[in-house]
Amino acid sequence: MAMESQVDFLVMGAGVAGLRAAVELARHGDVLVVTKESLGESNTHYAQGGIAVAMEGDEDVALHFEDTVNAGDGIVYRPAAEALVSEGPVRVAELIEWGTSFDSEGGELLRTREGAHSLPRILHANGDATGAEISRSLVAFAQVHKRVRFAEWTTVTGLVVAEGRVVGADLLGRDNRLERVSARATLVAAGGAGQVYSDTTNPGVATGDGIALAALAGAELADMEFYQFHPTALSLPGVPRFLLSEALRGEGAYLRNDHGERFMERYHPLLELAPRDVVARAITREGIGERPGEMRVVHLDMRHIKGIDLHHRFPGISAFLAKYGLDLDRDLIPVRPAAHYLMGGIRTDLTGRTNLAGLYAAGEAACTGVHGANRLASNSLLEGLVFGARAALSMLADDLPITVAHPPKSVPIPLSPLEEQTLEEQIAKLQAAMWAYAGLLRQESTIHLGFASQEACAEGLARLVKQGKGSRRLSEARAMIHVAHAILHSALARTESRGAHFRNDYPQHDDKRFLKHSIFGREEQVVFEEW
Ligand code: SIN
Repeated sequence: MAMESQVDFLVMGAGVAGLRAAVELARHGDVLVVTKESLGESNTHYAQGGIAVAMEGDEDVALHFEDTVNAGDGIVYRPAAEALVSEGPVRVAELIEWGTSFDSEGGELLRTREGAHSLPRILHANGDATGAEISRSLVAFAQVHKRVRFAEWTTVTGLVVAEGRVVGADLLGRDNRLERVSARATLVAAGGAGQVYSDTTNPGVATGDGIALAALAGAELADMEFYQFHPTALSLPGVPRFLLSEALRGEGAYLRNDHGERFMERYHPLLELAPRDVVARAITREGIGERPGEMRVVHLDMRHIKGIDLHHRFPGISAFLAKYGLDLDRDLIPVRPAAHYLMGGIRTDLTGRTNLAGLYAAGEAACTGVHGANRLASNSLLEGLVFGARAALSMLADDLPITVAHPPKSVPIPLSPLEEQTLEEQIAKLQAAMWAYAGLLRQESTIHLGFASQEACAEGLARLVKQGKGSRRLSEARAMIHVAHAILHSALARTESRGAHFRNDYPQHDDKRFLKHSIFGREEQVVFEEW
């Protein structure tokens, strides 16, 4: 039997955006924060390099705005960038007040530089564990509020829509128990979807659930063709694609091809600190061998750096590398790009509202247009803080009534071991196809191959759903299929190259037609809009 309950505010996701919103909402009502695993297992937790913020007054804020707009390759929605950089300092100051401890020396906050920033403005914590520190402190702060409740190991399997309004969600517990929660307002802050790709820096939970559920409920998606590939994830056979922070290059790391040559001067005047999309494509090109399928290794090199204790500055990275016998002081570190961050997502206005009443979105799951076609490094944690707070204020201002939704009639039937195995195989095929066909370099023919794989996976899933089967993994598979579908459609429709979206068959910008944002709606059509 399915259960039912009520809460004022439902928050899907316990990363920086969800937690920041929860803190705000708890001042006015009861909040339920739902997270698929234990608290802290989010993209936020794994953010290494830091949080970009202009703390030095108006001139500094104006420069941060300029850098954000320039990195976004022509389509940053300027009012969103304005909100991000101007509210950022207040939100970060608040975070410090609430217990986040950034690295400092003699009472001064330390700042590093990353790609496409005109000056060092990136705060960091415990060297290279900034996200973990923000997540730790926000969870602790939220836990003090008696009105915030956390549902860990719980998957949202559907949003409940009544009379055109989102009125709650279905939650599946670890024991496969289903609960329908009615809420006055629901926030999707469930992060990105790196797991759609076989190669990703994202943890296993990043399957795009929030984006897909919002779309299935009738929300519009925007800019789904813009998936950011982080240039430097560790590249060792059989080893997870561990993130090697852009801050390594901020502290002076070089990139070298397999001839030992620093190659970035052939691609951009900012060399290793060029915008992320440029560096990721340069590494990909340098990595392509002469024979089909042949891969050449590109390395990060810090051996020349003197005067910085690299193990102290990057303790997490050093410890991970040490497991594989690698040392930043001594060794060349093999790297390749990996899917990292979705610029697109659920279309929202600057207040976190979607096109569906009762449904709000913030953070990586949302698309305000703040990042345009390519996000500036370390703007994502700031985005979560600023737009998480903004979304919460809208949820409070809208003051919607509760509508009690009827509980679902049936409970899901668990998958058999064989069905689970088949599902995993289908997911792996989809992830590999997305990487090969809709990754850093795409073209019409490869995108069609991506569709073929996505449809095959969708058919397998439909058979299980028809039999009334349900599980967390099935729900994640449905989300990945849906997100892949939106990426493929949007990538096919944008017949130009811009930011993170590179079409081999249309390698140039087409400003006349595409200085716009793509919208993917219910009719599965992509339309382009100027914002
Ligand atoms: C990194 O540390 O390189 C990641 C920061 C980001 O994604 O902005």
